[in-house]
Amino acid sequence: MRVVVIWLLLLLPNYFPGFSILSCMGDQIDNLNRLIASRRSSNPPRSELWAMLDDHNSPVYVGSQKGLMQADKIDKLPGQPEGVDFDQYAGYVTVDPAADRALFYYFVESPVNSLNNPLVLWLNGGPGCSSFGYGAMQELGPFRVNSDGKTLYRNEYAWNNVANVLFLESPAGVGFSYSKNSSDYTDVGDKRTAEDSYVFLLNWLERFPQYKTRDLFITGESYAGHYVPQLASYILSRNKSTNQTVINLKGIAIGNAWIDDGICTKGLFDYLWTHALNSDETNEGINKYCDFSSEDLATKLADAGSTMDQCDKYQSRGVTEMGDIDLYGIYSPICNLTAIKPGSDGNVLNFDPCSGIHVTSYLNLAKVQASLHAKATKWSGCGDVGWTDSPSSTLPQIRDLVKVIRVWIYSGDTDGRVPVTSSRYAIKTLQLPVETAWQPWYSESEVGGYVVGYKGVIFATVRGAGHTVPSYQPARSLTMITSFLQGKLPPGPPS
Ligand SMILES: *[C@@H]1O[C@H](CO)[C@@H](O)[C@H](O)[C@H]1NC(C)=O
Ligand SMILES: *[C@@H]1O[C@H](CO)[C@@H](O)[C@H](O)[C@H]1NC(C)=O
Ligand SMILES: *[C@@H]1O[C@H](CO)[C@@H](O)[C@H](O)[C@H]1NC(C)=O
Ligand SMILES: *[C@@H]1O[C@H](CO)[C@@H](O)[C@H](O)[C@H]1NC(C)=O
Repeated sequence: MRVVVIWLLLLLPNYFPGFSILSCMGDQIDNLNRLIASRRSSNPPRSELWAMLDDHNSPVYVGSQKGLMQADKIDKLPGQPEGVDFDQYAGYVTVDPAADRALFYYFVESPVNSLNNPLVLWLNGGPGCSSFGYGAMQELGPFRVNSDGKTLYRNEYAWNNVANVLFLESPAGVGFSYSKNSSDYTDVGDKRTAEDSYVFLLNWLERFPQYKTRDLFITGESYAGHYVPQLASYILSRNKSTNQTVINLKGIAIGNAWIDDGICTKGLFDYLWTHALNSDETNEGINKYCDFSSEDLATKLADAGSTMDQCDKYQSRGVTEMGDIDLYGIYSPICNLTAIKPGSDGNVLNFDPCSGIHVTSYLNLAKVQASLHAKATKWSGCGDVGWTDSPSSTLPQIRDLVKVIRVWIYSGDTDGRVPVTSSRYAIKTLQLPVETAWQPWYSESEVGGYVVGYKGVIFATVRGAGHTVPSYQPARSLTMITSFLQGKLPPGPPS
């Protein structure tokens, strides 16, 4: 029986009774589930738009950036700890002056060696979730928010130890990024996100001209499995023809990345079964009734009929069987709102499942928004943006990129949402020969994960990390990204 992949984790929000128990990634689940579910609707997101990027030869808007770098410098974030030894900037870059559309960024330089360290752009997924609220404040940024929602503590394993890191809230409608044209919030998708991110980069490099020729790496997780390869492809195609700033893109790294609807969904249910979260019967039913090949989804939707209902039924059972766990880190606690004790003693080595709640409180303080040069607004982790174009796979872009730039695919191995199986199946379709055999890598004298080198792609797992790798395993994430930036395999055993 051949049937279409159907996304049923849409049911998940019902699993959190009264919303008092939340996964810290709750909003990110909702947005991706909504998108995948919308593929079955009468008005599905279009995939063809992605290819129709604007004429690659037409000049890109670049406004005057004079004096704006200094204006964007952050004096001090409210509640930041003593001894901050690096510069921070935040502000808006206009990407469309006619619509008054502007994207918000937060930029942290390295405490040492900033002049030589590369530039890293970080993108969170969703689609429509904030790279600042998730990536910077809960994962790889220099600070995390205490449970008082007012003060910050240092992340000693922040990626700005080895790079100058730029967090971009994209597209408009996400976080502090905005547009005066309201149709920008309802008609947006992968294409607009890539184009606006490109315009952002060009203007940002004018504002920070000392970074124009710096090596650039683009990194991200989850739905950034779309954003990152798409933006990289767009930069490279623009790079060939532009008479404007050439962006010195050297590589990409994507973590627990949503690359291909069918492959990632198959990987998810296989992970649930192999990690003892689903029964044999459910796994057998899914294998019998669900067809995970994702090409030509529309035709299959029309033909699927009753076997599709069977596939739905078994996937739904799979979700029920796993119970109320944090699918994003299957062995981690979930957030219990009534158990939060406000305090200022956060420690980056203690995973905090309620971190999203603290960040939302912090970023909605008026003095915090002022210190960030943000417009006063009700900030939330994920924007309610209408996603109208999204191809079902970014494997075509990845296949091309591996020939020209450094490509790493990494995976926190306790994530059930976009699990290690999904990444392995996706890489397998690239049919790349193995150049360096599977081996353990080390961080702080322990096995940090496993790595295998293919021709053109390095695949690294991060042991014990969930979906948002640095929030679960900060030290291991730093070891891994340092190796990526240096273009070396992560370290072997300590001698
Ligand atoms: C808003 O955006 C839509 C879609 O891009 C466009 O057709 C319209 O002209 C824009 N309106 C204004 C006032 O710029
Ligand atoms: C981008 O273009 C510049 C100038 O043509 C070239 O030197 C560089 O290698 C290109 N980068 C990539 C990744 O193609
Ligand atoms: C690039 O080319 C366009 C049109 O071909 C022209 O209008 C623009 O001024 C050029 N920009 C630069 C920086 O030379
Ligand atoms: C949440 O925390 C409260 C207060 O500590 C406790 O009474 C309750 O049992 C907890 N709920 C769950 C589901 O752990």
